[in-house]
Amino acid sequence: MPQTIAVLDFGSQLTQVIARRIRECQVYSKIFHFSTSAEKLRQENVVGIILSGGPQSVYSRKAPHPDPAIFELGVPVLGICYGVQLMGHFLGGEVEHSKEREYGHGLLTIQKPGRLFAGLPKKVRVWNSHGDKLTKLPPGFRAIGTTENSPFAAIEDTKRNFYGIQFHPEVFHTERGVDMIRNFLVGVCAAKQDWTTRDFITHAVENIRAQVGKGRVILGLSGGVDSSVAAALLHKAIGKQLTCVFVDNGLLRKNEREYVEKLYGRHFRIDLRVVDASRLFLRRLKGVTEPEQKRKIIGRTFVEVFERSLKSIGHAEFLAQGTLYPDVIESVSIGNNPASLIKTHHNVGGLPERMKLKLVEPLRELFKDEVRQVGSVLGLPREVVWRQPFPGPGLGVRVMGEITSANLEILRNADAVLHDEMMRSGLYYKVWQSFCVFLPVKTVGVFGDERTYDYVIALRVVESTDAMTADWAKLPHDLLQRVSSRITNEVRGVGRVVFDISSKPPATIEWE
Ligand code: XMP
Repeated sequence: MPQTIAVLDFGSQLTQVIARRIRECQVYSKIFHFSTSAEKLRQENVVGIILSGGPQSVYSRKAPHPDPAIFELGVPVLGICYGVQLMGHFLGGEVEHSKEREYGHGLLTIQKPGRLFAGLPKKVRVWNSHGDKLTKLPPGFRAIGTTENSPFAAIEDTKRNFYGIQFHPEVFHTERGVDMIRNFLVGVCAAKQDWTTRDFITHAVENIRAQVGKGRVILGLSGGVDSSVAAALLHKAIGKQLTCVFVDNGLLRKNEREYVEKLYGRHFRIDLRVVDASRLFLRRLKGVTEPEQKRKIIGRTFVEVFERSLKSIGHAEFLAQGTLYPDVIESVSIGNNPASLIKTHHNVGGLPERMKLKLVEPLRELFKDEVRQVGSVLGLPREVVWRQPFPGPGLGVRVMGEITSANLEILRNADAVLHDEMMRSGLYYKVWQSFCVFLPVKTVGVFGDERTYDYVIALRVVESTDAMTADWAKLPHDLLQRVSSRITNEVRGVGRVVFDISSKPPATIEWE
């Protein structure tokens, strides 16, 4: 049993973020239900406990309370936010209930660095989000840091190795927050820093095997980062018990289907079923020009095709998904209450319930960059692990107006040129997205001695960190020139190439 840091979850949306920070310090941690008994924690070889934040007041009737015996285990405890109030409540201090939340930036003044704040500057900007606050220290504790609003923003009892902080060290907006956590893990708990991505994989493989036993697992493979990494991980864990379904909706990029077949089918030897539903999709999209309508048709048809393919595969008990933690909680950003940013996690159109499938989500606790690391260690190529995002409705939202085979073909060929040039220049991996958009507008041109009357292709290349805002990428002119001349020369039906210089907002990244 490895040395474990136990994170007791009192319901904060940031509990997983705490776990992530611990992983960043290469320490093994496990999230436990808040009521887990001290005995159980002892059996789990726990060398330190972190009490997470939580939305409740310690006085509320529904307030989650830990087993009081955890304070008798003789292991260090760090209380964060609600966690520090619990320490106050259980260890003989006083907590004042406040209806108003203290929310946002604060300035922490460190009075006594001790072990928790070792190596930190005297003043640090921190992030607060709490209602109640500690008003009297429990016996044995002393204050080691203050903020404008709290004389007990950080407290310690060095005899018992108990620490408490009112603010959130796990969020990005707390400067040096990771250092505080590392100080607790290494300086206070003496935890070993030897937990790596490989260990995560070993552990995940064991968990997957334990969950599915001899059962059959189906995974909808889109070719995107998340489902690709999930497929590789599941395949490592259960081999032929995994069946991947790839739906060709006719809205894929050039050679995409062949690539997926080659990589997963032939290279990884995954049981891959490719369902060619392109005709059905295109038939249903015939004559449709309104973007939302297109999305609805594509989404509905996907679920239908996927469901039908599951039935033809035969009995399966599990549906695997590449759900990541940010799918559950979107992100923590300034000005928004972290807890209010929860994005409800939705399954593929209610499919698991209807088909009575149990979900397997091996990446559920990870963040995107961690998933990429897992993918690399599992041997997925760089172009998969670092693939740009691609919308579910595919080229369907990149062909303006009606989607026809001819228009899709033009778009695919133009897009392949841009992709090729972005890869050659190395810029593919530096921008957020780079793709072409087909415009059903004909313009006049000359080709040789002839007058032409052909379509327009727009290049959309953006930089972004989270797709919430984006700026158009300032591509080198010689690259733009090469892309433009190659598209007009090599792609029949295109007479003009334009470059989209709109940022988001007000424009969105996709054109539809
Ligand atoms: P917009 O166009 O809203 O896009 O600025 C933001 C990001 O989301 C991607 N996107 C989608 N992804 N299904 C998806 O899975 C969709 O329907 C969809 N629409 C947009 C888009 O490519 C960009 O990265």
